[in-house]
Amino acid sequence: MVSVKEIKEMFKPKLKPIIWDNNQNKLTVLDQSLLPFEKVFVELRTPEEVADAIRLMKVRGAPAIGITASYGMVLSVLKASSIDDALKLLHNAKQVMDKARPTAVNLSWATSHMLNRAKQYVESGEAKNVKELVELLKKDANKVFDDEMEAEIQMGLYGLEKLNSGDTVLTQCNAGGLATGTGLGTALAPVKIAHLLGMNVSVIAPETRPWLQGSRLTVYELMEEGIPVTLITDTAVGLVMFKKMVSSVMVGADRILSDGHVYNKIGTFKEAVIAHEMGIPFYVLAPVSTFDLKSSVNDVKIEERDPNEVRTVRGVPIAPENVKVFNPVFDVTPPKYITAIITEKGVIYPPFDKNVRKIVER
Ligand code: MRU
Repeated sequence: MVSVKEIKEMFKPKLKPIIWDNNQNKLTVLDQSLLPFEKVFVELRTPEEVADAIRLMKVRGAPAIGITASYGMVLSVLKASSIDDALKLLHNAKQVMDKARPTAVNLSWATSHMLNRAKQYVESGEAKNVKELVELLKKDANKVFDDEMEAEIQMGLYGLEKLNSGDTVLTQCNAGGLATGTGLGTALAPVKIAHLLGMNVSVIAPETRPWLQGSRLTVYELMEEGIPVTLITDTAVGLVMFKKMVSSVMVGADRILSDGHVYNKIGTFKEAVIAHEMGIPFYVLAPVSTFDLKSSVNDVKIEERDPNEVRTVRGVPIAPENVKVFNPVFDVTPPKYITAIITEKGVIYPPFDKNVRKIVER
């Protein structure tokens, strides 16, 4: 049995979508809105710039948003005039960034985590001035990144147990290294680790309208790593399962409730229902920072984006200009369709309303 440490040594990420320069306190992200046609890195200097990058989906994917916001919290205190000023700036940065996107819970998880750490440092006297606070918060933000990488490897190893050589995994959206910032990913981690270990595995990636995370990002990411991938339209999902071209479905998540309802990219619910009907296992892979144990289905806001994302494809009109549009970008999959939820703390099986808390809170 291969260990997390061994995979950490073996895995050399081809993509580094979030780069933090610890000496210059500089945050740079790969602009995912332009991939795969242009590979442009942009520097983010303030929490406002981080919030804009998240809103415009230059950075996207639940864990990547969380990591970027952690560094955004560090950026917010770099010019603080005093410890009190730093705490005010952190509160403000959290407010600004939390509003950028409503569904992925990793964002507010990360900003709350960083704010709480700062409060602890000040109250305990560990940070006596701004310089000390900045250094401590930098360590915390780097730890958010490192913990995410470790969690993904662990999830990947749990997920590996669900794969056999020759398998084809159907996914949705991009839940790979671009979406998490680490280069590995959540839903794609088992496949990437299997490939690393010499297993023959492949992926079917639906294009994921309207933003095309599947065709632009998942396909690009897997091709960069030499992992066989086939692109399909979103509407071909049923047929590939009917034709037994799929061994299992593996998707990420933006928020998971204590009863096992899973929020993920629009189209996930449809995959889950068809997989259930066809007897194909449906796995959700997410770190514990994606769980929201306080909310219920009625509390969660599903993000709706610009109607023009649907009226056009990358600027080219495909519908009458003023057609009424409904553009929700996430959906919610009820627990009855989910075979297991794979986290870094363990694999959660039904009944989820009993087992989610047992694993997430341990
Ligand atoms: O709108 P996006 O591209 O941010 O949505 C991303 C997803 O839905 C992913 O599946 C999810 O964030 C998990 S990423 C590891």
